[in-house]
Amino acid sequence: MSLLEARDISKSYRRNGLRTDALRDVRFTLDDGEILGIVGESGSGKSTLLRLLSGLEKPDRGEFLLDGKPLPAKRTKEQYRAIQMIFQDAPGSFQPRRRVAASIREAVKSLCGRAAEPDLDKLCALVGLSPDLAQRYPRELSGGQCQRFAIARAVAASPRILLCDEITSALDVSTQAQVLRLLADICREKHMAALFVSHDLSVVSCLCSRVLVLYEGSLVEEGPVRRVIGAPEEAYTKRLLDSVLEVR
Ligand SMILES: Nc1ncnc2c1ncn2[C@@H]1O[C@H](COP(=O)(O)OP(=O)(O)OP(=O)(O)O)[C@@H](O)[C@H]1O
Ligand SMILES: [Mg+2]
Repeated sequence: MSLLEARDISKSYRRNGLRTDALRDVRFTLDDGEILGIVGESGSGKSTLLRLLSGLEKPDRGEFLLDGKPLPAKRTKEQYRAIQMIFQDAPGSFQPRRRVAASIREAVKSLCGRAAEPDLDKLCALVGLSPDLAQRYPRELSGGQCQRFAIARAVAASPRILLCDEITSALDVSTQAQVLRLLADICREKHMAALFVSHDLSVVSCLCSRVLVLYEGSLVEEGPVRRVIGAPEEAYTKRLLDSVLEVR
């Protein structure tokens, strides 16, 4: 049985009488401890898929199963806790007037109960930062430090799945590499799975075992990363790869 299964997930938005099908009948599975890549051009539905999975929004049709059990429209605390999101804009994902340590503590309490206390020293060690830095406000940290704390906050409640939406695209290349290594180490050590959205196919190739390719809300290709990126079967994946190569 897969850790997570998405069954025919569809979502559309309406704005000013115009309908956008952000996701159409998307189905996939995620195994325990697996890092699954999601690629596709801008507007293909990647973030929408993660938002639905996180419980921030509901699909119009279809369902997600965790450990073979459907996630209900109103999730339990335990179900929320199991799936945690890490955003592209790490500084913006923390409350500006709160020290980072307080934000992490608050996140853990809201997910695990008021009595829960995160071990901040241990979390800082896990993400390779000095505990002193956790006493700072988000604006007093570098982008890379902030993203490490965002990872610490997501991991603090011991989720089963991390949702990563372009988490390194605001960072310089060497910081990107450090954050990605950290993510891979944490997933391995804690046996967590991740859905990893990125525009950077070389990063997806290094980090992920399998990849999904989305195009205009539909899943057009899926498979082992080496096969999909090395020898794509679908015309769209080929075009996507060509466009990335042209940009470089
Ligand atoms: N709240 C919303 N209201 C209306 N349309 C939306 C909303 N959220 C997303 N969309 C539309 O749904 C489609 C998918 O958007 P989504 O943000 O999932 O794309 P994406 O693949 O994450 O793109 P990017 O790579 O640019 O982040 C887009 O056409 C977008 O305009
Ligand atoms: Mg997006």
